[in-house]
Amino acid sequence: MSANNNQTRFLLSANDIPTQYYNINADSGLPPAPVISPATNKPVTPDELNVLFPMELIMQEVSTERYIDIPEEVMEMYKLYRPTPLIRARRFEKALGTPAHIYFKYEGASPSGSHKLNTAIPQAFYNKQAGTVAMTTETGAGQWGSALSMACQFFDLDLEVYMVSASYYQKPYRRILMETFGAQCFPSPSPRTEAGRAILAQDPKSPGSLGIAISEAVEVAAKSNGAKKYGLGSVLHHVLIHQSIIGEEAIKQMDLAGEYPDVVIGCVGGGSNFAGIAFPFLRENLVNGRKTRFVAVEPTATPSITRGLYDFDYGDSVGMTPIVKMHTLGHDFIPAPIHAGGLRYHGMAPTLSALCEAGLVEAIAIPQVEVFEAGVLFARSEGIVPAPESNHAVRGAMIEALKAKESGEEKVIVFNLSGHGHFDLAAYEAYFANNLEDYAYPDEKISTIKAGLPVVEDF
Ligand SMILES: Cc1ncc(COP(=O)(O)O)c(C=O)c1O
Repeated sequence: MSANNNQTRFLLSANDIPTQYYNINADSGLPPAPVISPATNKPVTPDELNVLFPMELIMQEVSTERYIDIPEEVMEMYKLYRPTPLIRARRFEKALGTPAHIYFKYEGASPSGSHKLNTAIPQAFYNKQAGTVAMTTETGAGQWGSALSMACQFFDLDLEVYMVSASYYQKPYRRILMETFGAQCFPSPSPRTEAGRAILAQDPKSPGSLGIAISEAVEVAAKSNGAKKYGLGSVLHHVLIHQSIIGEEAIKQMDLAGEYPDVVIGCVGGGSNFAGIAFPFLRENLVNGRKTRFVAVEPTATPSITRGLYDFDYGDSVGMTPIVKMHTLGHDFIPAPIHAGGLRYHGMAPTLSALCEAGLVEAIAIPQVEVFEAGVLFARSEGIVPAPESNHAVRGAMIEALKAKESGEEKVIVFNLSGHGHFDLAAYEAYFANNLEDYAYPDEKISTIKAGLPVVEDF
């Protein structure tokens, strides 16, 4: 079957929502590096992790099962917005004058505005099931905080969100969305925690960072005697597992389109939406001999995969979280104020880092002005205004489409449009006013990363 019948949207019914999550660790042949406890400097025990996470999520973190059943209660919630559409960007193709076929999976169709709800729902569910009363979390751009606020509301859990201060003031409407779903939202660093007070003592005007906000949310959960647990919106393996439903749906939708991707692209902050779309297709490479390429796109301001070290580091700024082996710019990294708030993180998902090191996934870094240029062209062609984070994927797809134009090849490109940008219009305003700056992370900073990393035995 050929895709040349002018069809644009490839839609599945509620019966096609995947009933199982996919776990790439069953097929990658890459044994996960141990996770190290910051307290003992030895591999962390499930009991230590249980202070922060319910046991079911800890078991998923280390699972080697290929498939994990999605609980019925979670399926009910997924039916509110899944399956999300797969759309052929015919007008964008035309604008680029490319012979490539460009498809995007539209995760901005979720009620909270991004893919983050895919993991917020099961995280809230497993917490409720384990008797958790309240959750804590951080948020950068506000997408994760909004998603977890909605999920906690649906499962009747309280939620405290520590929002990176710069975003808190730039994006009041994200905060109001979280409050509408019943969460409490605080600018981070805040005076509510020891971690926040320590940072404020050094710099009362600190703009915050994801790493600092994580320290605050982890501290509150760790000191709650088990009443509160912490939820992370990316990086951890269980989050990547939950996001696999994106790629599982996309495989069925590409089947409807009668095509198969030559290349799959996504933006990367902590790696979860990219993993979500890519890993099920990567399974098809590993198990069924497909030859798809995978391209992770990061900002030049936070180039963790392309220029960071692959080493053990903390997940947060203060050094309270477990130490994991990942691509890192150092946990004390303070990001440049680029508008893709969700990509301003020092580390990368260990699972994705290992796949990059093994050469199974490629990575590129792009400066923000050309990222917005691509996003605006996409918006004007397809009518969807992407989140600044997602614009990195749009630009990645555009680069591949222009290469196809030059070589005259009819390449099939699939990218994940991880969220809409309706709360990010200030970033677009800055772009139109020529007020966006490109940032390249300085070489001197790269050369000092190693000195700041925790010392652990290399297991
Ligand atoms: C819309 C959107 N896309 C992408 C990301 C990056 O996160 P991840 O790499 O985990 O998908 C974020 C993070 O906040 C986001 O809000």
